Amino acid sequence: MKTIPTLSTCTPLNDSELADLRDQFPILSRSTASGAPLAFLDNAASTQRPVCVIDAMSDCYQQYYANVHRGIHTLSEESTEAYEQSRKVIASFINAASEREVIFTSGATASINLVARTWGDQNLREGDVILTTIAEHHANIVPWHQLCERTGCRVEFLPLKKDFTFDDETVHQKLRELRPKLFAFTAVSNVLGTITPVKKWVHWARELGITTLVDASQAAPHQPLDVEQLDTDFLVFGGHKMCGPTGIGVLHGKENYLDSMPPFLGGGGMINRVSVDGFETADLPDKFEAGTPPIAEAIGLAAAAKFLRQIGLDRIAAHEKQLAQVADEGLRLIEGIEVIGPSMSHKSGIVSFSIDRVHAHDIAQELDHLGLAVRAGHHCTMPLHRHLKKSSTTRASFYLYNRLEEAHRFLEAVQQVQKKFTPSGRKRSSRPQD
Ligand code: ALA
Repeated sequence: MKTIPTLSTCTPLNDSELADLRDQFPILSRSTASGAPLAFLDNAASTQRPVCVIDAMSDCYQQYYANVHRGIHTLSEESTEAYEQSRKVIASFINAASEREVIFTSGATASINLVARTWGDQNLREGDVILTTIAEHHANIVPWHQLCERTGCRVEFLPLKKDFTFDDETVHQKLRELRPKLFAFTAVSNVLGTITPVKKWVHWARELGITTLVDASQAAPHQPLDVEQLDTDFLVFGGHKMCGPTGIGVLHGKENYLDSMPPFLGGGGMINRVSVDGFETADLPDKFEAGTPPIAEAIGLAAAAKFLRQIGLDRIAAHEKQLAQVADEGLRLIEGIEVIGPSMSHKSGIVSFSIDRVHAHDIAQELDHLGLAVRAGHHCTMPLHRHLKKSSTTRASFYLYNRLEEAHRFLEAVQQVQKKFTPSGRKRSSRPQD
């Protein structure tokens, strides 16, 4: 079993590595509409792509693209080979037991919906419980609400502590008390940056015979993941948050789970035989990949995974944490600014905040004017925002290509915005406040 180094043992990226790395992302050298140099701090929403990913997809389209698994001709064979090779790369990226456990979907959302519609419909009944956390993205809430509508089961939410982390004892107690059929939770909150103890929680669930699904959308791009070690039953993530293409995501499922589940979408590619009377389902992984799959996207995703691995996920985590720390600790020193998230020892490279009496959209708009791309709003986490009694927050999210200078620029820019909108400043936010 491979050992994952702890962040304290990792060397963050040095200046010359960072300069070389940034050269591989041409988009980073552009300016925003105001003419200010771009500092892209919206990576939790979607990341940029290095040239190797763009080239891998472009090569596919220019050199050997054809439909996969169908043709008896050179191009189709080459495409099929590249597509299946990509599955192997992703299986290795997350240390899956077999590539049969790696299902390509259109994204993390589609992966969760697949589980809800197949395993969920098959196993959940009236009165059953799905346990999740209040910090989930809508993608890990709405499919369960829909499942409740279909089956009569119910969703229970684990609350946050005041420090924006979860109380382990409460988690363990709820698992014992509620005996949920499913424990579905995020590995990293897309707003708070809170890192959940996946291995421990999955272990507790396993002891009680509870199925687990982990939303690794904000984890897979930023830290080493080992599904064998974590022992998750299902784990999902998307391509576009890890330097890969949009339109592709991954569902990892333990083979015994995937084997026992009915297929999701019906159509070509997911069958062994079809007759006028019915059909026979194909084996894994094809069973869950009806229709023409995202071929070039899978190839691009594999290129992204290789790229991240080459740099080292542990080093990427250490690098972005270093930048987030500057932003997080700097913001905490400013009066009138609240950081919405735990201290850096419990979180990833995500820094959400609010400024007294200034609407998040105003903040983001002003920051854009200064060249900083951040996200503002509810970040697809309305239950979390309601829990926090906030209608919106502003979020800066760092990634491997961000520079320390950008974290400092961000701090200065936030102060500039605060000054502009607070009563002593020239302008007041016209939008309603929390
Ligand atoms: N899930 C994405 C975000 O957090 C879109 O911004």
